[in-house]
Amino acid sequence: MKILVATEKPFAKVAVEGIRQIVENAGFELALLENYTDVNDLYKAVADADALIVRSDKVTKEVVDAAQKLKIVVRAGAGYDNLDLPACTAKNIVAMNTPGQNSNAVAELALGMMVFMARNQFTPGTGSELLGKNLGIHAYGNVGKLVAKIAKGFGMKVYAFDPFVKKEDMEAEGIVVCSTAEELYSKCHYVSLHIPANEQTKKSIGYDLLSKMPKKGALINTARKEVIHEEELVKVLTEREDLKYATDVAAGNHAELVEKFGARIFATPKKIGAETAEANINAGLASANQIVKFLKTGDTTFQVNK
Ligand code: 3PG
Repeated sequence: MKILVATEKPFAKVAVEGIRQIVENAGFELALLENYTDVNDLYKAVADADALIVRSDKVTKEVVDAAQKLKIVVRAGAGYDNLDLPACTAKNIVAMNTPGQNSNAVAELALGMMVFMARNQFTPGTGSELLGKNLGIHAYGNVGKLVAKIAKGFGMKVYAFDPFVKKEDMEAEGIVVCSTAEELYSKCHYVSLHIPANEQTKKSIGYDLLSKMPKKGALINTARKEVIHEEELVKVLTEREDLKYATDVAAGNHAELVEKFGARIFATPKKIGAETAEANINAGLASANQIVKFLKTGDTTFQVNK
């Protein structure tokens, strides 16, 4: 059986070696397609693969159709908005993610971005401190929880809004629970976004929420750019000269944002939230282990297209 790792943004070498060991110890073969720039290379490579590991690489219907033997695809990471799930399901391909495996890397970046924005992107001038500020966690999942934990170390007061997590569970962790997103945004100087990109959430963060933020507020987005309503972001930043926006992956209108709002905007040049050796090892090895378990025993834990 052939396991293909197809990563336009490759894993750290040490993670690839770990994946290789797991795959070969199980008696399977590893194929690598790294740094590809032409999707035709992916179509070719996946043609005879039994299993596929990707990162943010798009597994479209075309990729699925090009695969003759594919049984399982694992997104080494949390968000699986890059997988065409109906296309996978139609061909009986199991799709999985590896929840929690790269969360700490993303959480650390979110706090780093808060400090960076509070200190004027590390340029001269008077900044501010995180101590004593209110932090709103928008979605209290694996990353949100870790952001909350680290933020408490900075002396921030942590609020959260997540309709899918029990209020008591959040309260037990010392979180002030908000019952609406509006409440979260109106109370918090910093809001850290951790919602997935799906039909319900795309373009859901816009004028109504952001205009409610307290003075000198900042939105930190280490989730997905698609959840931002970009036109409304321009509108609110125009009206509110005190607000800032930092994101891991530039908005579609990033050039316009920088031109209009300068240092109130920051975007990483390429998504780096999960770009640590530790996160690559955790997510990469988990993917390989999940594939081996599925191929050997039929285990479908972490399947997202059930
Ligand atoms: C995730 O959803 O896990 C992160 O966005 C990581 O994405 P990446 O593998 O492309 O770095």
